Amino acid sequence: KTKIIAIESLDETGLKALEEVAALIKKGETVVFPTETVYGLGANAFDPEAVKKIFIAKGRPNDNPLIVHVSEIAAVDCLVAGIPPKAKQLMDVFWPGPLTLIMEKSALIPAEVSAGLNTVGIRFPDHPIAQAFIKMAGCPIAAPSANRSGRPSPTQGKHVLEDLDGRVAAIILSADTEIGLESTVIDMTAEPPVVLRPGDVTVAELREVLGEVLVSANVTENVVPAKVSSPGMKYTHYSPKGDLVIVKGTTTEICEKINNAVSRYRGKPLSIGILASDETMGCYHEGLIISLGSQKDPREMAKNLFSRLRTFDELGVEKIYAEDIPLNNETLALINRLYKAAGYTFI
Ligand code: TXA
Ligand code: MG
Repeated sequence: KTKIIAIESLDETGLKALEEVAALIKKGETVVFPTETVYGLGANAFDPEAVKKIFIAKGRPNDNPLIVHVSEIAAVDCLVAGIPPKAKQLMDVFWPGPLTLIMEKSALIPAEVSAGLNTVGIRFPDHPIAQAFIKMAGCPIAAPSANRSGRPSPTQGKHVLEDLDGRVAAIILSADTEIGLESTVIDMTAEPPVVLRPGDVTVAELREVLGEVLVSANVTENVVPAKVSSPGMKYTHYSPKGDLVIVKGTTTEICEKINNAVSRYRGKPLSIGILASDETMGCYHEGLIISLGSQKDPREMAKNLFSRLRTFDELGVEKIYAEDIPLNNETLALINRLYKAAGYTFI
């Protein structure tokens, strides 16, 4: 049975409850904890048996490596073969925060964590409960996002309960996560460094510190307008249960396309959802219309994405039309997750 505790602040009661679940980590168990990005499903990064439990709880393929979480920069030394000077620069500027650095691993990192690679991703989260939890556990914490594999990452306690209650030793429930998308992942073993996953720390911000930074083709190839539609290729990442498709065009075109599409289902027993924005919601009159937030605030939209996708699931929506979002430095991470959730299908 999963032990569930709710911690709002690190007062005396909160600290005591946290001590109890941190003790479970020392015993080789799994514990879900909040971070500023999304909830994480953690275990002792030095304990291969504990790490295996993460993969089982999530249903995660074991060739997908885990991020190791620390609560101070000094803890990184023993986890890696060496800290490249540029990695040190990024730590000084962005840690604690939503940035994961891939470096060559040390012998202390088991193959279960790195999925057999000779590198490891490390992150120092900017969340008081995460930091206190890691300190109390007394070891680095290996943790992927706390969702069942293929589901949208959990940004609220109820998402964690939906996916993992009964499958982990303990769950720490707290406030909704602040950022709502997973951390930026950057490969520091490459020169120049390469962004493997966009996140709240933007490519422009990284370039301000390092100068040249590349972005992996996996990220760019599907967002560059020239290379649209590959409908056959259904990725399962972050997917809602309903069939999600991205609608491209100008604001007026998007509105028309969606209204036309929705009208074709009129009278049919199919539940349709529309993922719009505060500014465009008024254009639609049928279907379940949900706003991601204001277009003027891409970070608000990012924060809401995964929970909105889960809301469509809860409402039993079978077909979802999502408005496309203009691509820029601030929206790259949001677009990356949205397109993946849609399996790169566009109309
Ligand atoms: O914000 C986050 O990063 C959250 C919170 C819990 O910290 N964690 C998270 O973990 O999103 P996960 O496992 O869901 O995503 C980690 C990503 C995966 O895409 C994985 O393939 C990549 O980072 N990754 C991890 N280690 C890597 C490595 N050594 N080389 C390349 N990619 C790696
Ligand atoms: Mg994940």
